[in-house]
Amino acid sequence: MRVLVFMLAMIFLPALAAAQESGGVPGPVITKAQGDQCVADTDYMRRYHMKELTHQRDETVQSGVRTKKFSLKECVACHATTDDGGKPVSINAPGEFCASCHDYAAVKIDCFQCHATKPEDGRQATALFPMTAAAEPEANQ
Ligand code: HEC
Ligand code: HEC
Ligand code: HEC
Repeated sequence: MRVLVFMLAMIFLPALAAAQESGGVPGPVITKAQGDQCVADTDYMRRYHMKELTHQRDETVQSGVRTKKFSLKECVACHATTDDGGKPVSINAPGEFCASCHDYAAVKIDCFQCHATKPEDGRQATALFPMTAAAEPEANQ
């Protein structure tokens, strides 16, 4: 009898654990980034990415200072994923990197009305025109 219980446990426990990991504990499922580290500590990024992004924007737009560190293009370059056919997917599409947390936390951002949501040529997003966004409607917001 003991052996049977043990064997049943061996069979079902991993399945239970897996079920709990995927659906049992509510939380956003965040897509994996490329590379092995972010532009700053992951914990820091989780908390302060919005501040750094707007700071970087102000520096660029108002003072003309252009650095790579908190560039939105760089976020997209590393955090955007590709579909099964290898085509880039919008970083703000449902379930994708930016949207995964924001939908969960009910945060809305308008950044991608102007900023490209996909890396170009698999490298960097360069398009920065509202026209681009209009020609290519995204499920952002
Ligand atoms: C109305 C269009 C528009 C919207 C909306 C917008 N931006 Fe921008 N953003 C620009 C333009 C234009 C520049 C200047 C681009 C350049 O000179 O490189 C810029 C520059 C930036 C830069 C510096 C360049 C870079 O990629 O590092 C950052 C960072 C940035 N924006 C972040 C944001 C964030 C975050 C949001 C949303 C909260 C946002 N922007 C919303 C148009 C927009
Ligand atoms: C060089 C690649 C790279 C760039 C550029 C980059 N990241 Fe990251 N980012 C990572 C990696 C790797 C992690 C660790 C988590 C993972 O493996 O997905 C991460 C983690 C994060 C997290 C925490 C995610 C979580 O799982 O809680 C946030 C938020 C984040 N990045 C935002 C940004 C923003 C905003 C930008 C642009 C300013 C950016 N990242 C630029 C690679 C990058
Ligand atoms: C780990 C979860 C997570 C990820 C991934 C994430 N965000 Fe956020 N973001 C948040 C949370 C939570 C807030 C709200 C924080 C607050 O209100 O203090 C937020 C707020 C923001 C804001 C400010 C919005 C406002 O109106 O105040 C911007 C801009 C922003 N995120 C940009 C991005 C971009 C761009 C990406 C993708 C490159 C991204 N975030 C990915 C969790 C995340």
